[in-house]
Amino acid sequence: MARLDFGSIFGGSDPVELELGSGDGSFLAQYAALHPERSFLGVERLLGRLRKLGRKADRAGLTNLRSLRLEASYVLEWMIPPRSLAALHVYFPDPWPKRRHWKRRLINSEFVRHAATALKPGGVVYLRTDNAPYFEQMVEVFGASTAFAVTETPAELAAVVTDFERDFNASGIPTLRAAYRVQTTVALANDPPTSAS
Ligand SMILES: C[S@@+](CC[C@H](N)C(=O)[O-])C[C@H]1O[C@@H](n2cnc3c(N)ncnc32)[C@H](O)[C@@H]1O
Repeated sequence: MARLDFGSIFGGSDPVELELGSGDGSFLAQYAALHPERSFLGVERLLGRLRKLGRKADRAGLTNLRSLRLEASYVLEWMIPPRSLAALHVYFPDPWPKRRHWKRRLINSEFVRHAATALKPGGVVYLRTDNAPYFEQMVEVFGASTAFAVTETPAELAAVVTDFERDFNASGIPTLRAAYRVQTTVALANDPPTSAS
């Protein structure tokens, strides 16, 4: 499958932000309304949830929001043009709590590598989860990468609560949050050689 052409999808050159596992689109619909100067793409595998996102976008008259029904890690690895994203949002990805299922988790060292390629220099990955062991894994894999440095989640972004987050917080389960900024330009296969290489 060809990589996405954001210029033709969004009809412009605004910064593009991607959410993987966007669920009912509660985050994207709110955040895209706050930022009409940015373009947003949601990836979700469940059709019913994507339809809800579409209805939210229609009701709010959003023109800067699109969605895609595909597998999240496939999209990140194969469909996002290198160095094209301003931000990558992953909120409450399925935690796969049983240890034998941890290999199914979205956030792992492969994900970090593909995120570093997909983001522009200075682009940021924003993560949230309710699951402490998964959060530890997120911190570990991003901490091991020389491409990323810890950064802050802006208060304006943290204030936009997702559907799952609202339910977890209402049951007394706090949000664990982390953010990582691409701090080095990741070398791509077709980059011209540098004097160091
Ligand atoms: C726990 S829900 C969180 C939804 C939303 N981010 C929120 O915070 O309200 C996880 C979402 O990720 C979707 N999902 C899980 N694995 C996925 C995958 N491999 N590709 C695309 N979507 C996926 C699920 O269908 C579900 O909607």
